[in-house]
Amino acid sequence: MTDAADLPALINLDDLAREAARRLPTPALDYYRSGARDESTLQDNRAAFGRWRLRPRVLVDVSQRDPATTVLGQPVRLPLLVAPTAFQSMAWPQGELATARACARAGTVMTLSTLSTWPMEAVVEAWRGAGGPENGGAIWFQLYVYKDRDLCRALVERAHAAGCRALVVTVDAPILGTRERDVRNRFRLPDSLNIADLLDAAGMAGEAVRRGSPTGSQLADFVYQVLDPALTWADIAWLRSISPLPIVLKGVLRADDARRAVDVGCAGILVSNHGGRQLDGAIAALDALPEVVAAVDGQAEVYMDGGLRRGTDLLKALALGAQAAFIGRPMVWGLSVAGEAGVTHVLGLLRAELDEAMALCGCPTVADIGPDLLCR
Ligand code: GLV
Repeated sequence: MTDAADLPALINLDDLAREAARRLPTPALDYYRSGARDESTLQDNRAAFGRWRLRPRVLVDVSQRDPATTVLGQPVRLPLLVAPTAFQSMAWPQGELATARACARAGTVMTLSTLSTWPMEAVVEAWRGAGGPENGGAIWFQLYVYKDRDLCRALVERAHAAGCRALVVTVDAPILGTRERDVRNRFRLPDSLNIADLLDAAGMAGEAVRRGSPTGSQLADFVYQVLDPALTWADIAWLRSISPLPIVLKGVLRADDARRAVDVGCAGILVSNHGGRQLDGAIAALDALPEVVAAVDGQAEVYMDGGLRRGTDLLKALALGAQAAFIGRPMVWGLSVAGEAGVTHVLGLLRAELDEAMALCGCPTVADIGPDLLCR
């Protein structure tokens, strides 16, 4: 662990990734950094941003710049949201609580993983205590659909009661993609941690992710046991019927699926390949973004995640039609280095880089960022 005094020397997200790699135990580091199989999609997510070049506008008054926007009608101070990542107390003892506080102070959305090591009520409370309601942003709750639909309904009701403002339903994980690093490490949740929101569900909390493992990764076994590989569009309609919360469908990579998401009433679509952790060889998220934006045609908000490491990357995603983009691993690296202060630092770096990119592209506001800024 470090104190926040070390942070100024870490001037970009790669610096933070390197510092986190020095600090984290190998199984935790590998769990966070791995992609599926050959990790080709993991790498391509990053490479996709380099396939676009910027066409900056000149002689625009950019003396005042404002990166604020809205997501699902909620104001956020910047178009950068935090993606769901599991087991954050492996990175820092306060885990999801620290992330929530940093997101509250930054005025952005934290998407809380179902596989959180702190209960959702405590996370929302931490977010409130750090000024979330005043600063904008929100906690959104990421949901896996369990075979046990009563459990699923109970989680959805709890999320609503706790004050979460949207359900982010992950649909690219009927089974878990194989992360070979986890298999080699025989990844298991450390004994001191649990999946806090599943503690009441018999046998599901930490235990299932700790038992002897046929696949090598106990998370993969857990997913086989409890997530529903028979999930279909009808289940998304069911979720809509049991909760007033808007649904963001996470893991869409095709125009036809995006249309169906709109047809079943999703309010948002998160173009994502799960950070390259599911189907290796899947299209880069940024490459899938334009066809989804075109298919949705303004009838839902479109977001993306995967590979974003620079302010110019964020600007490119917005130029291709994303309402906002998410970061996952960089947030974990910040958390690993300095807890809440580390996440704050990561969000601050990207905010400053976006501000610079907006100034140099002739974009005083997010609304000025359009496809004319890009070429191949
Ligand atoms: C969980 O969602 C993971 O990708 O490990």
